[in-house]
Amino acid sequence: MKKVEAIINPSKLKDVQIGLKAANIPCMTVMNVKGTGLQKSYSEVYRGTEKSNILRNKVLIICVISDENLDKCINVILDNASTGNVGDGKIFVYDVMDAIRIRTRTRGGEAIK
Ligand SMILES: Nc1ncnc2c1ncn2[C@@H]1O[C@H](COP(=O)(O)OP(=O)(O)OP(=O)(O)O)[C@@H](O)[C@H]1O
Ligand SMILES: [Mg+2]
Repeated sequence: MKKVEAIINPSKLKDVQIGLKAANIPCMTVMNVKGTGLQKSYSEVYRGTEKSNILRNKVLIICVISDENLDKCINVILDNASTGNVGDGKIFVYDVMDAIRIRTRTRGGEAIK
């Protein structure tokens, strides 16, 4: 199992969600977050603060998926969240040790099917 964390622009959330559902990856956790990347191209000064220090509104999507769905999941996010502009976001991938469905106590891969 893998955990995919995608930090994207809020305006792209709907398209990513629809794309993931269509790809048979319907389960997700979504959080509103603030963040900053490298933002090398925003070097102007804004009210005395470097724009690169500004924390921008982003959406964090968390999906726990089977290993075989990993590439599909990443590609859906790339296809739906990318504009080619800075700040499009970032995807992080982690190994997941276990998953437990509380209702049935099912563990492992079965818990995310
Ligand atoms: N190394 C990181 N660690 C944690 N969060 C990050 C990291 N890089 C980016 N993020 C998160 O992702 C969001 C979007 O990052 P962003 O797309 O600006 O990355 P970038 O590396 O600056 O790429 P780009 O040059 O395309 O802007 C940030 O606002 C932040 O929330
Ligand atoms: Mg950036």
